Amino acid sequence: MCGIVGYIGTKKASPILINGLLRLEYRGYDSAGIATIEKSGISIMKDKGRVKNLYNLDGIDNLEGTIGIAHTRWATHGKPSKENSHPHSDNSKTFSVVHNGIIENYNELRKFLTDNGYTFYSQTDTEVIPNLIHYYYNKDSKNDDLKLLRAIKSACMDLKGSFAIEVLCKDFPDNMIVVRKDSPLVIGKGENENYISSDIPAILSFTRDFYLLNDYEFVVLSRNKAEFYDKDLKPINKDVKNIEWDASSAEKDGFDDYMLKEIYEQPNAIRETIGAKLNENSKCEFEELDFTKEYLLSLNKIYIVACGTAMHAGLSTRNTIEKLCKIPTEVDIASEFRYRDPLVNEKTLCIFISQSGETADTIAALKLCKEKGAKTLTITNVIGSSITREADYSIYTHAGPEIAVASTKAYTSQVVLLNILAIYFAETMGMTNPCIKDLKEEILNLPKKVEECLKISEKVKDFSKKVYNEKDIFFLGRGVDEVVAREGSLKLKEISYIHSESYAAGELKHGPIALIEKDITVIGIMTDPNLVEKTVSNLQEVITRGAKTMVISNQKIDDTMFEFVINIPNTHPFISPIISIIPLQLFSYYIAKEKGLDVDKPRNLAKSVTVE
Ligand code: F6R
Repeated sequence: MCGIVGYIGTKKASPILINGLLRLEYRGYDSAGIATIEKSGISIMKDKGRVKNLYNLDGIDNLEGTIGIAHTRWATHGKPSKENSHPHSDNSKTFSVVHNGIIENYNELRKFLTDNGYTFYSQTDTEVIPNLIHYYYNKDSKNDDLKLLRAIKSACMDLKGSFAIEVLCKDFPDNMIVVRKDSPLVIGKGENENYISSDIPAILSFTRDFYLLNDYEFVVLSRNKAEFYDKDLKPINKDVKNIEWDASSAEKDGFDDYMLKEIYEQPNAIRETIGAKLNENSKCEFEELDFTKEYLLSLNKIYIVACGTAMHAGLSTRNTIEKLCKIPTEVDIASEFRYRDPLVNEKTLCIFISQSGETADTIAALKLCKEKGAKTLTITNVIGSSITREADYSIYTHAGPEIAVASTKAYTSQVVLLNILAIYFAETMGMTNPCIKDLKEEILNLPKKVEECLKISEKVKDFSKKVYNEKDIFFLGRGVDEVVAREGSLKLKEISYIHSESYAAGELKHGPIALIEKDITVIGIMTDPNLVEKTVSNLQEVITRGAKTMVISNQKIDDTMFEFVINIPNTHPFISPIISIIPLQLFSYYIAKEKGLDVDKPRNLAKSVTVE
């Protein structure tokens, strides 16, 4: 969802900017643009469509500037068009701005500026920003080095909503100013150069040293330094953080698509996530956490809050927490939870799951729980992401950068980590459950079992070829298998655009069975030994009505009943979703490929949803 790149240094900026935008493509966008400071002033090149179209714009090769800003836009206010693309300028063309986020009071600000003689040329909320900066810049009679910073700060204080912005000013040709509020932005430190990006992987090939910004921290960048100021424009110190990911882990490594690469990275991602936290013969360890037995025993509830696939990771693990810790656990969608005045207090532990750590609704839900006095714990994949700066505790999945929009390895790593967390809670609480030993052993076996499961790839591909032209596909399961059905259905609709629904198999008779007709495809997931018979009966009901069935199971079932059976490795039922989702990830991938779709960048979707 919108990407920002910036460069200030000694090299030609435009190729670096375009290259950075290409690396941010996965976030989702519909137009792109760059602005550089040239001898003649600020030059802006932008258009709707793909980043690579920028290479065809007249004059792009003549840009010599060594300072520039760049943006991929995902339309919110105003359709995708050249006019609405970023960078945007003020009326006097003194300032050029790119912006991620949403300015909620832009109508009010637009009216204020129009009343003060400003004209608007786009339908965007962003265009108020350069004009507002100009308004304050003009009003300031002092002509010192901080004049630009003061104007930007005053403008930012008027903005409601979320923003990460980069500003160029033709009067300060050797500087760039950046600031963020509730929208991601990082600064990569090089030798006599600084890189700016909304996402670490986009600039990982240039540096691994990063400054992570908090809300309302203003940064004045020059070639050889980054100066930080707080809200009151008092200088502040910032430490450089070294990021362990390397650039090659953010490349495709010979795979056709990031999604396929990330599916195949799961054994290793799980290994990294387990790390040193879990050991078969000793207690689980989380050095980041200091929960005492008394605190955990005092809890009246655990809330797990997240969006989309991350929410499914929560649902997959609710049962483990309740069974091992005997603490009632609720899982909710962040965008619903935050507006329903949830019953949260100091006796509630709130866990927020977010791969990106930038999801606006999840962060807002976390802030709400903090206000209500609960302890907040986040599970994320991105070190230093916004959510980690809000949460009381942060633990990391260590799945490595996930570039494809459809989440795969982040999901399985989240489920792994949540299961280990549940064991850690139970052990700290002194709960004794004989299944813990078995569960630990099975978690440690997961990387191998996932590797084994990936071998069924060709079989899944064969089935995908048979059904890729379907209009509707149904997914059924019970217990944790119902959550896997939801996640499989989400993956399929996201990247193949096939309409799909998932149901708790027992609900079928209560309505959805009316949709079953001859030749419709129904996928059943059956890993829970206690529920397998029941799901088989439900599948029998759809077969009777003419449905084609594919079954994913680690149980003994009558293969002859179903059109296609995918046998997967057996494991502890708490963690079976980590294995049973693999064939469904591959299924959606191969269907999308068969349809010739862009797997990594599905339409209308963004990797990181930084607005509500
Ligand atoms: C689906 C998918 C989304 C994300 C959701 C939350 O494949 O990727 O549903 O899971 O947007 O994103 P994060 O985890 O970054 O908060």
